[in-house]
Parts: sequence; structure tokens; C-alpha cells
Amino acid sequence: MEIITSVREMQALARKWRQGGKSTGFVPTMGYLHEGHLTLMRKARTENEITVASIFVNPLQFGVGEDYEEYPRDLERDAPLAEAAGVDYLFVPTVREMYPRGYQTFVEVTEVTRGLCGASRPGHFRGVTTVVMKLFNIVKPDRAYFGWKDAQQVQVIRRMVEDLNLDVEIIPVPIVREADGLALSSRNVYLEPEERKAALVLSRSLKRAEELVAQGERQPEVIKEQVKQMIEAEPLAQIDYVELVALPDLTPLEQLQGQALLALAVRIGKTRLIDNTVLEVE
Ligand code: PAJ
Repeated sequence: MEIITSVREMQALARKWRQGGKSTGFVPTMGYLHEGHLTLMRKARTENEITVASIFVNPLQFGVGEDYEEYPRDLERDAPLAEAAGVDYLFVPTVREMYPRGYQTFVEVTEVTRGLCGASRPGHFRGVTTVVMKLFNIVKPDRAYFGWKDAQQVQVIRRMVEDLNLDVEIIPVPIVREADGLALSSRNVYLEPEERKAALVLSRSLKRAEELVAQGERQPEVIKEQVKQMIEAEPLAQIDYVELVALPDLTPLEQLQGQALLALAVRIGKTRLIDNTVLEVE
């Protein structure tokens, strides 16, 4: 595996592969790799001739008072993990390389970024779409892999790809969880042992919602209320949002129908965690 830090060098390599007709799979990440990231990389590996991953903690997608400074970074730990997962090229640019002096261009997807994490993290998705657009232009992938853990991010990126006619296929990958149900996240390292236990309330409440739907419940308000009650019963948890919206547009639902996304953001102590499940009815 080769580590590339220069945009120009990465672009020159990508141009060569495109001209040579070699398919490229791409996995953008912010590093501190875990089994979720590695699952995306392994999938990219099996479906493409060349696998590129990036590690870049993107300052543009963090709000004031969020954890940009504290976000865990450890390239010495990450590089061998990426290599073992089948990554051929690891793109690790600096902030200066991505946003040089004078930088002033941004990508904004409007409707689908309004709710959920878009509402609680203003400017977040503008940062995500801008950096992902840049990374796509630099790596020129045929396929790009995104985890369903960030379901709204998947919908936002798909919208951008559709609206701006980007020549890349977006491939969503199911959420990877610990044996006890906790969705893997680089932010789980912030959790104290007591908080780690309390964090299970996210996946447990989603399971409860799935059971309710299996029993015939179809009213979004009833399902959301049950989930909220379960989370509120956990003393270390504080709800940021509990939303049940239609897929793929993430618009409000009157009645559960087709595919709906039940998405949560919950603070456990100082750590903000997200999780979700797709509820599907005929
Ligand atoms: P990051 O949080 O590092 O996640 C990188 C990718 O890994 C995302 O597509 C995310 O959905 C996926 N992922 C994280 N945890 C997962 C899990 N438990 N199961 C499956 N997939 C998981 O998402 C970002 O970085 C950034 O916003 C980025 C797209 C890189 C733009 O900066």
C-alpha cells in the first residue's frame, strides 16, 4: 500500500487508471479505523481492480464547539489496518492541501439536508458534500462506498451525484455493530465504561421499534414516543433527535408506508452518537 499526501500526485495516478480502463473503488473516511470502515474497504476491494481510501478529518464539517480538535487521529495505527483490508492507495492530505489560502467554493444540497443531523449540526452537510465532491474529483472513482450508519449522509451524497451528474456509483453498506448491538464509531473511544453500557440504549430502542412494527404498529408518533421513553429512562442519555421519515427524501410521514428511516442522535455524557434502522411495511 502506498500513502499519498499530494492532490496532484493522487490525481495523476487516478488519471492513469481511468485511461488504462482499470476500475477504482473509493472509501472516504476520517480515520481512526474500525471494523465499519474496514468492511467498506474489503467490499471495495472485491468489486474493483484498484482500491483507494482516504483519511482526512475535514474541518469544514465540524461546527463551532464540536470535536474537531479532539477527534482521534492515528495514522500509524490506521495504515496497517487499511493495508490488511486491501487498500492499494491511502490518500492522506493535510488541511492546507485540501483548503489552500483563498479557498472559497462550496457544494450545498438543500432539501434533504434540512432535517435530522442537518438541523442539529448547521453547516455539517455543506462541509461533507464539499469535501466529498473534491475527493471524487481527485480520486475519480467508479464506485464509492458509504456506510448506512450515516444514512442521511448516503442520501445527501446520492442527491449530489444525481443533481451534478457525477460519474460515480454510490454503494451503501449495512451498519456494522459490536456483538452487543452498539454501532461501531470512531467516537466510541470517548465513552467511559459506564457510558459504553448506557450507549446500548440506542440499538435497544431501535430493536423495540422494529418489534412494534412487526406487531402491526403503523403510527409514526406512537413508535417515536416509545423510542423516546426508552432513551429517557437511561440517566446518562440525552436525546438530540428521534425522527421517523420517508426514504429516500427524508420527508415527514403521516403513516408508516414503504421504506421509512428511524434515525436517532443521542448524547451519552459529552459524546453524540447516531444510529438508525429502516422500517419497511407493505
Ligand atoms: P467517518 O465517520 O470516518 O466514516 C467513514 C465511512 O465509514 C462513512 O461512510 C460511514 O458511514 C462509514 N461507517 C462508520 N461507522 C460505520 C459502521 N458502524 N458501519 C458501517 N459503516 C460505517 O463519514 C465520514 O467519515 C465523513 O463524513 C466523510 C464521508 C469521510 C467526509 O468527510
